Amino acid sequence: MISEKMIRMTENGSAIRAMFEEGARMAAKFGRENVYDFSLGNPNIPAPEKVRQEIVRIAAETDPMELHGYMANAGYPEVRARVAASLNRRFGTAFSEDNIIMTVGAAGGLNVLLKTLLNPGDEVLVFAPYFLEYGNYVSNFDGVLKAIPANIEGNFQPDAEALRAAVTAKTKALILNNPNNPTGVIYTAETVKAIAAVLEEKQKELGTSIYLISDEPYRELAYDGKEVPYLTKYYRNTLVGYSWSKSLSLPGERIGYAVIPSECDDARLIFDAAVIANRILGFVNAPSLQQRVVAECLEESADVAAYDRNRKALYEGLTEAGFECVYPDGAFYMWVKTPGDDREFSENAKKYNILVVPGTSFACPGYVRVAYCVSLDMIIRSLPAFRRLAADYGLSK
Ligand SMILES: Cc1ncc(COP(=O)(O)O)c(C=O)c1O
Repeated sequence: MISEKMIRMTENGSAIRAMFEEGARMAAKFGRENVYDFSLGNPNIPAPEKVRQEIVRIAAETDPMELHGYMANAGYPEVRARVAASLNRRFGTAFSEDNIIMTVGAAGGLNVLLKTLLNPGDEVLVFAPYFLEYGNYVSNFDGVLKAIPANIEGNFQPDAEALRAAVTAKTKALILNNPNNPTGVIYTAETVKAIAAVLEEKQKELGTSIYLISDEPYRELAYDGKEVPYLTKYYRNTLVGYSWSKSLSLPGERIGYAVIPSECDDARLIFDAAVIANRILGFVNAPSLQQRVVAECLEESADVAAYDRNRKALYEGLTEAGFECVYPDGAFYMWVKTPGDDREFSENAKKYNILVVPGTSFACPGYVRVAYCVSLDMIIRSLPAFRRLAADYGLSK
């Protein structure tokens, strides 16, 4: 028999699989062009041409023994130094290669950091709505995830007062995801300052270290010149998990990095332990070819303007249909209020071949997430279906 923990995970996993299968079944029945699948956060914009060129060039020019061999578990020192230099230039930080560990995407980085920090029973806080995988990552190390309810009145900016009420002596970390999946909201500098002040206050009061883990795979996807605060500048005990899955449209390549700033409590110990965690979780090191590729593409980004066009078209279409949406400043998700139960709404949407994810899957019922990392053409074709769905709920204007 498999482990009890995995029995529960397998049950949850089958719900996600069911969603995939539903999309495939609908496409077979109605034709792919008649199915409006907004369920996945899989970038639809190709990686920049420079990524392909560098893959080809590096594969052609590098000695294969060097290119494909093992390396330091933290990653190539020169790649880490270049990542540090890029962060320093963009955010005014003072990192070196000794603050950077190359990871297997953000998911790999978060697991490394949580393995490094957590004792069984330690609490990890998160603001709802949140990426539900956090619960699994925390449970991997027998931690306890505690969700702070969504601040709906505050337009989904995290509420520092609610954080104050949630921190206990067992709180080891707070995960903050900015720009946010699923709301598309960017947490402002003001919000971040308020969170940092509460964490500082609680550390003093409790005599503990509380780490702020910044999960930022969507950092580069910000619209209208909106700033995404760099958290290490606001709070000393910040650790960062970054990934190129979304910014360079490379989710299958599994490449990212973690930042462990020198000013953190126990910084050296955390760095050394995280390198070991990277190894013994079975990652060993981040993919060697992709480390070299991203080092050459630090100035590159996927075509954010295309997501921006999708954002505007979808927002306009859905609000015209009568839906209430949070206007997203970042990522590629639209957070839409549902008239009535969100799971029922998602089921009803399928009648019009629309696939969306209920807010319950992000610990925030009453909303659905519409992922607009799809073609603009599909968004436009889907709008009559959304209008019919709105009409069913008596929403149409
Ligand atoms: C909020 C958030 N964190 C982490 C991840 C994992 O990203 P990666 O592909 O870099 O592991 C995702 C992926 O969708 C995400 O949405």
